[in-house]
Amino acid sequence: MPQKFYIETVGCQMNVLDSELAISELILHGYEQVRRRQDADIILFNTCSVREHAEEKIYSALGRLKHWKERRPNGILGVMGCMAQKDQKKIFRRAPHVDLVLGPGQLDRLPELLAGISAHHTAQIAVSLNRFGHEASAMEIRDSFRRYDPRRLPEARPSRFQAMVRIMFGCNKFCTYCIVPNVRGPEQSRPPQEIIQEIRKLADQGCVDVTLLGQTVNSYRYMDDSGETSLAQLLEQIDAIEGIRRIRFVSNYPTGMTNRLLEAVRDLPHVMPYLHVPAQHGADTMLKRMKRMYSVSEYRDLVDRIYDIIPGVAITSDFIVGFSGETEEEFQKTVELVRYCRFKNSFIFKYSVREGTRASQLYEDDIPEQVKKQRNNALLAVQNEISAAQNQTFVGKTVEILVEGRSKNDYRSDKPGDCSGFIPVSSLTNTFQLTGRTPDDRIVVFDGPESLIGTFQQLDIEAAAPFTLFGKLV
Ligand code: SAH
Ligand code: SF4
Ligand code: F3S
Repeated sequence: MPQKFYIETVGCQMNVLDSELAISELILHGYEQVRRRQDADIILFNTCSVREHAEEKIYSALGRLKHWKERRPNGILGVMGCMAQKDQKKIFRRAPHVDLVLGPGQLDRLPELLAGISAHHTAQIAVSLNRFGHEASAMEIRDSFRRYDPRRLPEARPSRFQAMVRIMFGCNKFCTYCIVPNVRGPEQSRPPQEIIQEIRKLADQGCVDVTLLGQTVNSYRYMDDSGETSLAQLLEQIDAIEGIRRIRFVSNYPTGMTNRLLEAVRDLPHVMPYLHVPAQHGADTMLKRMKRMYSVSEYRDLVDRIYDIIPGVAITSDFIVGFSGETEEEFQKTVELVRYCRFKNSFIFKYSVREGTRASQLYEDDIPEQVKKQRNNALLAVQNEISAAQNQTFVGKTVEILVEGRSKNDYRSDKPGDCSGFIPVSSLTNTFQLTGRTPDDRIVVFDGPESLIGTFQQLDIEAAAPFTLFGKLV
């Protein structure tokens, strides 16, 4: 009987991709994936360290699984991902029943370590070298964040026709608040040939939509005998792959957004007019403390340039509120920047101090939780107003979407006001509430048959909310 594994993922798209690769590797090694924890012999958490809350949730889930381990002496409980790299042996101290701690830079060793645990009944740990505090050379540190050639199985992908593709590992920016460079290691770009080969294979498997991933994806740069390949050049190569119809790339760092890159987005038919370029803050004083390498006016100029060069582009951003020492005036500058830039949407985070970062050593986490919360809500309200107004301009227009699946809220009452008998609309009409995305990454909800999933469709937009457009098949 094959051993059954269950995997739960939190964190960014990088983690979602890592889980997919881990699932592929385990299936290839004869393990079977199950959808419910209670059916599993092996429970794996792929974790995130970017904010404290994400970690605490994992530690309490691990705590609750103590009894599971007691009942199943041969069961394996594993912690993968960024928290594994950050906390290392501390995880065994806080949760002694954990069997495996596996950093993201050692992911390819998962099957080998699971076999080791089963054979020897001893806990295993595999993490990369810390970036500071020891004698190892830069090269040794880099090599300990192992690049692995992913063996991807279509059945491990969350979607048959969409895929994420990592084009670079790690980050060298060291923004003072951020743990990512510590846990994901030094920046390393993948060779373009390897990326192209991977995307060709995905296209052969029916994939039409790819999202290229990197922490600072616009720093992508690969040197070999034939010269240097930049992100713009890589996009040209991917654009030419037969079968690929939509290409996006995230996340961009606000410096190094060359006109060549913006023109590639404008001119390459399959590269979508969507750019995620996190600003993080709207005050120069704060950007400096965060060690972001641009000023607010440079960021505004970039946004102007993006709107000038790429017609119909949507820009999205991330912001941190309540970073050390943030005054009300400084916060208001963030509000001003959001109003100026007219983002499609913004992800807003309350500052969470992370052990091991520069900010944790240099600055006090001195903004009360209440103030952080209030600033978060205030900024969200401003952004929502902008998102709603922008979405409203789509009403009456026709858009092309890639149909992604059924909407999560696909349950409606047949009689308004009747809360007792929610009936899936499908049982009444044979149509479902489906969702898809426009080229500039807006979510559209509409009614249609399930057979449309994975196809491109034209929709007339009839109504709009801040995060959703409502349409009708043309
Ligand atoms: N590499 C990406 C983002 C990585 S983390 C980039 O640079 O854009 C995603 C987002 O989490 C960041 O953009 C930032 O807004 C937020 N973030 C990172 N560290 C944080 C912290 N300590 N507290 C709160 N938010 C944080
Ligand atoms: Fe973190 Fe900054 Fe790197 Fe983004 S660029 S991952 S925010 S250090
Ligand atoms: Fe979290 Fe690691 Fe991504 S810390 S945001 S899962 S890179």
